[in-house]
Amino acid sequence: MNGVAFYFFLVAVFCVTGGMAWGIQMAISGEHLFAPAHAHLNLVGWATMGLFGLYYHSVPAAAARGLAKAHFVIALVGVVLMVPGIALAVSEKSEAVVAAGALVTFASMLVFLYTVATNRTGSSSAPP
Ligand code: HEM
Repeated sequence: MNGVAFYFFLVAVFCVTGGMAWGIQMAISGEHLFAPAHAHLNLVGWATMGLFGLYYHSVPAAAARGLAKAHFVIALVGVVLMVPGIALAVSEKSEAVVAAGALVTFASMLVFLYTVATNRTGSSSAPP
């Protein structure tokens, strides 16, 4: 794995490592207030970023586009805003950061939708 696929996967593994440590801290302390932020670090950071990485690894034509690098930056900014944003929201401090993070994360998925839709690969004559 290299290029943009590697960077997506590296960020994903950072997220799940941090997410698990956060989960263990919550379990030990019994304080679950930030459970939704932990969940999104794992699901948007690990599962979603990891799937993006696996996709770009298996579709090199998509990874070679400049759009893939832009997608990585947008997705990273989305996670970096969204997870602390949820923590701020559940602490009733501010909803602005999570709103921005959610919109950027949604924009990242729109970029991915376009990427998947415009990178059909393989031969239609191949056996099923
Ligand atoms: C060492 C690993 C992990 C530990 C110790 C851990 C611990 C926890 C704890 C203590 C809670 C709060 C439960 C509650 O309040 O009822 C929680 C919630 C949650 N966790 Fe984890 N977790 C871990 C890994 C993961 C991973 C890998 C994912 C997803 C890929 C995940 C997804 C979730 C979800 C969806 C919730 C529910 C959030 C909510 O109710 O708002 N967790 N976890």
